[in-house]
Amino acid sequence: MTTADYVEKIPNNVNLRDDRRLQRALEVWQPNFLNWWDSMGPTLPTRDVYLRTATSVDREGWAQFGHVPMRDYRWGIFLAEPDPDRRVAFGQRQGQPAWQQVPGEYRSSLQRLIVIQGDTEPASVEQQRNLGATAPSLYDLRNLFQVNVEEGRHLWAMVYLLHAYFGRDGREEAELLLHRHSGSAESPRILGAFNEETPDWLSFFMFTYFTDRDGKYQLGTLKESAFDPLARTCSFMLKEESHHMFVGLTGVARVVERTAQVMREHQTDSVAAYGVIPLTVIQKYLNFHFSVSLDLFGGETSTNVANYFTAGLKGRWAEERRKDDHQLTAGSMLVDAVVDGEIGQTEVSALLGLNTDLRREYIADCQNGVDRWNDILASAGLPWRLSLPHVAFNRKVGAFAEIQASPGGVKLSPTEWAERKDEWLPTEVEKAHVRSLMRPVYERGKIAAWIAPPRNGINGKPFDYEYVHLA
Ligand SMILES: [Fe+2]
Ligand SMILES: [Fe+2]
Repeated sequence: MTTADYVEKIPNNVNLRDDRRLQRALEVWQPNFLNWWDSMGPTLPTRDVYLRTATSVDREGWAQFGHVPMRDYRWGIFLAEPDPDRRVAFGQRQGQPAWQQVPGEYRSSLQRLIVIQGDTEPASVEQQRNLGATAPSLYDLRNLFQVNVEEGRHLWAMVYLLHAYFGRDGREEAELLLHRHSGSAESPRILGAFNEETPDWLSFFMFTYFTDRDGKYQLGTLKESAFDPLARTCSFMLKEESHHMFVGLTGVARVVERTAQVMREHQTDSVAAYGVIPLTVIQKYLNFHFSVSLDLFGGETSTNVANYFTAGLKGRWAEERRKDDHQLTAGSMLVDAVVDGEIGQTEVSALLGLNTDLRREYIADCQNGVDRWNDILASAGLPWRLSLPHVAFNRKVGAFAEIQASPGGVKLSPTEWAERKDEWLPTEVEKAHVRSLMRPVYERGKIAAWIAPPRNGINGKPFDYEYVHLA
């Protein structure tokens, strides 16, 4: 692309046309991004996909639908509309005008926060790259690709901030975001859950429900940032993120619905032989994805996060709706902990416990989907219910990393855990069974036997619409 092309082809509201420095940075980065997309993005060859593209941040522009070749997707750079009077809502700078530039003293902290968020975006595209080969329907295939291109755009969003505000360090970090790869031995992605595989569609739906939701909460804290360009970027990303969680919520719901149908039809819980996924296996996938997503919130207490809050870099979920002093210099809270060798809680200052505060908001939100899935089981007249495992279950990060616990929250010895973990986490045999069901269905209006069709299509289109043209 020539410079003129960049300005024309990259939809943006950051005045790219007049920003020579940013244009030059993108001229170097954009071809590398496309190379990354070609080598690490979706593997299924397609001609075009019915995608939603953001072309501006207003009501009409943020969701334009049409068939586009994915490689030509217009990855744009968008920040939510500025509020010229925006003020810092919390911490020691509360009430001061929001920052339009990065204060020197917070430069490395802000850059670190942006890099960590940015690293997750391409990671999930890498994790999901082979799923197209086994899509249960064209509708699902389209949703997968929609999530993929938007995660690509979220990478652009973070790279924009690095290019525009962090100079040469920022440009180097932007290159590294394309260099690290999910699951790579030499240069893995930064966070654990983003190095796990997404080998089948049940994992994909669980990932978009639980792990994309972690993204929602992280973006929610950055949306409060005193650094206004970061706040506005994250605020716009949250709009797209809600579709990803919708894919997860309805995806799991449709798997549960189909399993419930077959359970009723055959009057049995042992439905594996009928080509659907048993509820016990769905529960184990849920246990896995929920527990690895809890790890993404970090330790129960964190001095770094306390400092970020005090400095105004990162707020709480729904900061402005909280009814307190937004300083937290006096309060305290109970956080999860191992106390005298047992699962318990300990009191810390409210500032130190901010990770726990965010994780609790997240857990409460996760429960909503589980309730929806249980409504499906209840309507089918089945006594079975799904549930979130205890916060101490299968943790690799934080207070419970050193111990083992059952999903009910009972502490276990290492021997008991080794003997019983197959009751709670998917076994190789179960994963192989789920994978064996994953055969592609690319015919219009058809769907795989292990999942129910969606209630509605995309953007008012019917389920049997040609959402994807394969190459
Ligand atoms: Fe994202
Ligand atoms: Fe997402």
